[in-house]
Amino acid sequence: MDPTKVSSERLQRVLPDALAALHGVIERHRVTEQEWSAVLAFLTEVGRHEEFVLLSDVTKTSVLVDAISHEGETDATPSDVEGPLYREDPPWREKPVKIYEKYEGVENGDVLFVHGRVTSANGTPISDAVLDIWQTGPDGGYDVWDERQPDYNFRGRFGVEEDGSYEFQTMVPKPYTVPTDGPVGRLLEASGQHPWRPAHIHFKVDAEGHEPLITQVFFPDDPYLENDTIGAVKPALVRPLIGHEAEEEVARRGLSAPFYTCEFDITLEPAMSAARA
Ligand SMILES: [Fe+2]
Repeated sequence: MDPTKVSSERLQRVLPDALAALHGVIERHRVTEQEWSAVLAFLTEVGRHEEFVLLSDVTKTSVLVDAISHEGETDATPSDVEGPLYREDPPWREKPVKIYEKYEGVENGDVLFVHGRVTSANGTPISDAVLDIWQTGPDGGYDVWDERQPDYNFRGRFGVEEDGSYEFQTMVPKPYTVPTDGPVGRLLEASGQHPWRPAHIHFKVDAEGHEPLITQVFFPDDPYLENDTIGAVKPALVRPLIGHEAEEEVARRGLSAPFYTCEFDITLEPAMSAARA
């Protein structure tokens, strides 16, 4: 966001505090000219590599801002950070929704059907909700990193049914490391912070008259559930994966191997303007 998009009243209130905190750290640790130059060179590089969102994430600043921004939304599904891997204008997926195409490596994973209902807090179905999903493939790679994957693989937007229900076919994602080949990766290494995130699926949900929701779904028994490098795991967003091995079930899905399902119901908060009216 352009700082000029923050009101000048707000800027004049927050900026002096931010600078006082920064100056306090510099004084307390007797930061040298050489060290400060290194900091400025690092931040310049972060900008050049477009890694400021990633920097905000791995310093757990994004999680803090997310928590403050959604304080008091007690009835809604908990929000979570967007992260740096969202891509604008993902493809619209027709029903039955499948968000990936076959590619070399796809057989390394397990098919997963995610399903649920989108409702408002009183249980009313939200039939015009649109879901926007993005995740890694079964090897832990996003389309933008994994050259084997078609563009926009494991991404997609789609609508829900009249009763607010949805289902989409994907594959069970795996834990992955945030990008480590740029300045933020070097910072992680130098500071001894591991770069791993637990497996997750990102959701954006939009519907008329409701606050947009950005969140993530996680799975139990993940080795990084307790120590996500961006600190974004919320226990309320962990959902079990249910295995399906019966031959009839596998055949009914048109598959040749056992698969998983995961239920994730979504509750949206009424739009702020509607709540105030
Ligand atoms: Fe992610």
